[in-house]
Amino acid sequence: MINILHDSDADTAILNGKTIAIIGYGNQGSAQALCLRDSGVKVIIGETEILNGVKNPSWERAKEAGFEVYDIATAAAKADIVHMLLPDEHHGRIYREFIAQHMTKGKALSCSHGFNIVFKQIIPPSAVDVIMVAPKSPATEERKAYLEGFGVPGLVAVRQNASGKAREIALAMAKAMRFTRAGVLECTFEEETFEDLFGEQNVLCGGLVELMKAGFEVLTEAGYPPEMVYFEVVHEMKLIVDLIYEGGIQKMNSIISNTAEWGEYVVGPKIIDRGVKNRMKKALKDIESGKFAREWMAEAAKGCPNLLAKRKALGEHPIEVTGRRVRALFEKKN
Ligand code: NAI
Ligand code: MG
Repeated sequence: MINILHDSDADTAILNGKTIAIIGYGNQGSAQALCLRDSGVKVIIGETEILNGVKNPSWERAKEAGFEVYDIATAAAKADIVHMLLPDEHHGRIYREFIAQHMTKGKALSCSHGFNIVFKQIIPPSAVDVIMVAPKSPATEERKAYLEGFGVPGLVAVRQNASGKAREIALAMAKAMRFTRAGVLECTFEEETFEDLFGEQNVLCGGLVELMKAGFEVLTEAGYPPEMVYFEVVHEMKLIVDLIYEGGIQKMNSIISNTAEWGEYVVGPKIIDRGVKNRMKKALKDIESGKFAREWMAEAAKGCPNLLAKRKALGEHPIEVTGRRVRALFEKKN
């Protein structure tokens, strides 16, 4: 059994007198910066004031929240712990350009996703600690849980322990963000990176979205009204997942009808069949071998033309068009 760490396994005192620079005040950056600061940790922000020719709203938001905001190089120079929370595809370039020269002996480089370390977009000097402190949650939930006095679960990992205190620092950050209230798992950078990519591609984002789209297309192409179909294959997903979250699959099954449960057993495995599992194994291999990362970095280097085209196409898919209409109707009535 994997070891789950709680508040008593961590001590935030090791952060006393240390400055954490959060690089990138976006979804995770803002949530983590606010939680760390509320727990008494000295936090500064490293951001880009002008991004793609316009004023970066994240810079403004960080200022409005009362943080000291610096350009990325200055923040990295001032910090003891440089916690990188930029979009993953920009880490390598920004690290090399603005951060590398400030990663001097005794400092720590930290992140919430191991991608850039594992796939060697960032190669830190051996004299610094390299750690990961990651919430297993979207940023909004993380901040909400913190404010409610609880916290979301998290992961910590140590890649380099130059100071001899890397694990303590990672756990202290996790405690300050209240991840240790819910429970923190210790893992390796590879485990977090490979699992995270696999989960989002095959089950959580990729798998789920394609499953809902296929169901939506089959029913609407057969002539069923899109609004009704939307409720069936998208909206109800949340209700089902909430039950599983609360009490597992059996709890969900105990609440749905026997008819639904019977359909789950006899039809489900015919839809999500061995072929799906075999393709998932291939997807895992492509992650572990670095093939997926290479292709994604090549796409990012070109300015993400395919990502942007796919994003646009999804917005025009009937499932999204219907969703917008359904939500607007409901907002009006309630
Ligand atoms: P984000 O998409 O919110 O972006 C963060 C900030 O980076 C932006 O506010 C912007 O100011 C800056 N930025 C964007 N493009 C830039 C560019 N070209 N040059 C310079 N700065 C730029 O990032 P997000 O989603 O918060 O992810 C940050 C890190 O946290 C990633 O490593 C991600 O894997 C990790 N993570 C994210 C989770 C999430 O729920 N979004 C969950 C767990 C980990
Ligand atoms: Mg994930």
